[in-house]
Amino acid sequence: MTWLVTGGAGFIGSALCHHLAEASDDKIVVIDKLTYAGNRASLGDLEKAGRVELVVEDITRADRMKELVWDAAPKAIFHLAAETHVDRSIDGPGAFIATNVSGTYSMLEGARAFHARLPGEDKRAFRFIHISTDEVFGSLGEEGAFCETTPYAPSSPYSASKAGSDHLARAWFHTFGLPVIVSNCSNNYGPRQFPEKLIPLMILKCLAGEKLPVYGRGVNVRDWLHAEDHARALLMMAQNGVPGETYCVGGGAERTNIDIVNTICEIMDDRRPEGAPHKRLIEFVTDRPGHDFRYAIDASKISSSLGWAPSRDFETGLTETIDWYLGNEGWWKPVQQSVYVGERLGKA
Ligand SMILES: NC(=O)c1ccc[n+]([C@@H]2O[C@H](COP(=O)([O-])OP(=O)(O)OC[C@H]3O[C@@H](n4cnc5c(N)ncnc54)[C@H](O)[C@@H]3O)[C@@H](O)[C@H]2O)c1
Repeated sequence: MTWLVTGGAGFIGSALCHHLAEASDDKIVVIDKLTYAGNRASLGDLEKAGRVELVVEDITRADRMKELVWDAAPKAIFHLAAETHVDRSIDGPGAFIATNVSGTYSMLEGARAFHARLPGEDKRAFRFIHISTDEVFGSLGEEGAFCETTPYAPSSPYSASKAGSDHLARAWFHTFGLPVIVSNCSNNYGPRQFPEKLIPLMILKCLAGEKLPVYGRGVNVRDWLHAEDHARALLMMAQNGVPGETYCVGGGAERTNIDIVNTICEIMDDRRPEGAPHKRLIEFVTDRPGHDFRYAIDASKISSSLGWAPSRDFETGLTETIDWYLGNEGWWKPVQQSVYVGERLGKA
């Protein structure tokens, strides 16, 4: 049996591959273009152990995707490959439309051609898990939470491109009977996250004694979930989820950005006392254009129907994540040296 994971060399994709490798003996085929955000080192141990086969390819190549899906003959496709950074979508939206919209179309068409030729039981068991974000729902005020029936109202080129891909995925279910399940998840954190995102950026800037740039007044709220808990939710969807359904996934851990940065500073004071107090490095900078105020997820559907719940509280997960970055310079140093050194993106 084989799982097919697109974007498996990225942050959540690699967490999913590690989880699949622990949870089953099945083969894992990864399709990843290895963009700036893809990192072969995130799969290094799994590749060496022969658990993952990495195919370096662009998901926008529709004919190639048909071949690759056919060759892999997966029992499920987890589609994670995407351009994912809101700030980069402000600087250059084109790649987001190509990968997130056209790339999703390629994957759906590859899956449809494969699924159509499957015999009875294999056809019934096949799943296409489309991994999306809570950002497609737009911004909340002080109260309330997104759920599966919340109308879409994306506000960044990133979230708009993900919204487009979600509509395609649902259309392929309704029109062609492809057994698609859509996951809309809140902000993830954990090991192997590319250091342009808030948590790793702040950890590495603390370590370097550099300013910690906080957008606006740092009052924007996100609901945080550890990537391993997201990976567990995705496998549960593939095993017991209902085709055509959407599941909202969230950690129930709402924090303002300034809360997050303060907590990172406190943990860093403990781990690296020579740099304390790290809070002196905090600097408020011009806000992101169109910055959504608040996201929160009501995860009661996946909790009651699939029995999923987050396995760790946020502060424990954050401390573990900081310790991972402190212990894995060999992972992030080459990224800083070759791809990204922490500069401000997306000022428009
Ligand atoms: N990070 C979050 O907080 C979060 C939350 C909810 C949902 N998501 C969704 O989860 C998925 C994974 O997010 P992530 O944070 O791991 O992203 P990431 O940026 O860390 O990884 C994306 C991966 O996709 C690959 N990729 C990009 N373009 C490609 C292309 N054209 N062809 C093949 N591969 C390509 C990259 O090389 C990279 O390995 C995305 O679909 C994202 O929208 C992310």
